[in-house]
Amino acid sequence: MTNQTGPGGDVRLTGIAKSYGAFTAVHPLDLTVPQGSFFALLGASGCGKTTTLRMIAGLEEPSAGSVHLGDQDVTALPPYKRPVNTVFQSYALFPHLDIFENVAFGLRRRGLKSVKKQVDEMLDLVQLGEQARKKPHQLSGGQQQRVA
Ligand SMILES: Nc1ncnc2c1ncn2[C@@H]1O[C@H](COP(=O)(O)OP(=O)(O)O)[C@@H](O)[C@H]1O
Ligand SMILES: [Mg+2]
Repeated sequence: MTNQTGPGGDVRLTGIAKSYGAFTAVHPLDLTVPQGSFFALLGASGCGKTTTLRMIAGLEEPSAGSVHLGDQDVTALPPYKRPVNTVFQSYALFPHLDIFENVAFGLRRRGLKSVKKQVDEMLDLVQLGEQARKKPHQLSGGQQQRVA
């Protein structure tokens, strides 16, 4: 969940909860996800998984509780100041950009001048090197998810 090159650490949720009016979407939850671990959050549809991820990312303000990344309390930080990346159910790829340019977009936005090596490495890692010049609509759902 945390960016491997940025300030990392455990993801620690303390009493995190979310209500919409009288409706409770997430009951108070304590959870620590150790740094470097692969963690799956399973549960019935509507039980609050996405809302919890959105609170970690800062896209949803918790009604109670706190979010720590390592030693840092990020509960009040806006999303763009958190070292968190989220791949949602819809992949939010740019339809007019090819696969290479979709992957390059974030790096270019960070001001990197030469992105080719990094993009090629990432595409190879997810076995999409051959698809670099295709557009998102030419890929399968799983391939699009790997681009995201
Ligand atoms: N913005 C919202 N306003 C009101 N209710 C919401 C809102 N977002 C989610 N919910 C409700 O909160 C519950 C948890 O939703 P969600 O976290 O998306 O579940 P899931 O575990 O399937 O990802 C659901 O009952 C959903 O209908
Ligand atoms: Mg969901």
